[in-house]
Amino acid sequence: MPEDELLELTQQLLESIATGDWETYQELCDPSLTAFEPEGRGHLIQGLEFHRFYFDLGAAEGPRVTTMASPKVRLMGDVAVVSYVRLVQSLNDAGAPVTSHYEETRVWQMQQARWQHVHFHRSPC
Ligand code: GLY
Repeated sequence: MPEDELLELTQQLLESIATGDWETYQELCDPSLTAFEPEGRGHLIQGLEFHRFYFDLGAAEGPRVTTMASPKVRLMGDVAVVSYVRLVQSLNDAGAPVTSHYEETRVWQMQQARWQHVHFHRSPC
C-alpha cells in the first residue's frame, strides 16, 4: 500500500531529523524542497542548505521519541500529502520529561519510481 510506504518514509524522515542523520534526510528530500517552518521566520525556505545548518550542529543529547499522532495520507496520483501532529518526547535541562508538538503537512512526489519529499509546513500548536 502506498499509504503505508509514505507513513514509513515520513517516520524515517523524522527519525533522521531527531538523530541528525543528514545522509538519510538528503536522500529522502528533493534538492528543491520548499518549506515553511518557525525557524524561517515567515519566509519560504527553498533548498536544503537552510536545513543542513541544524544537522551540522549534531543530534540533541538524551533520549528522544518521535510520534506522528493521527496521521492522514491523501494520495493524488504521483503526489501525496501526509498530515499529522508531531510529538517529540525528550528531557528538559532539569532532566524532566517534556513533549513538544507541531502541526505538520508534508508533500511527497513520485519521481523515477521513488517518493521524494518536496514541501512541508510546520507550525507550533
Ligand atoms: N526542519 C527540517 C524538517 O522538518 O524537515
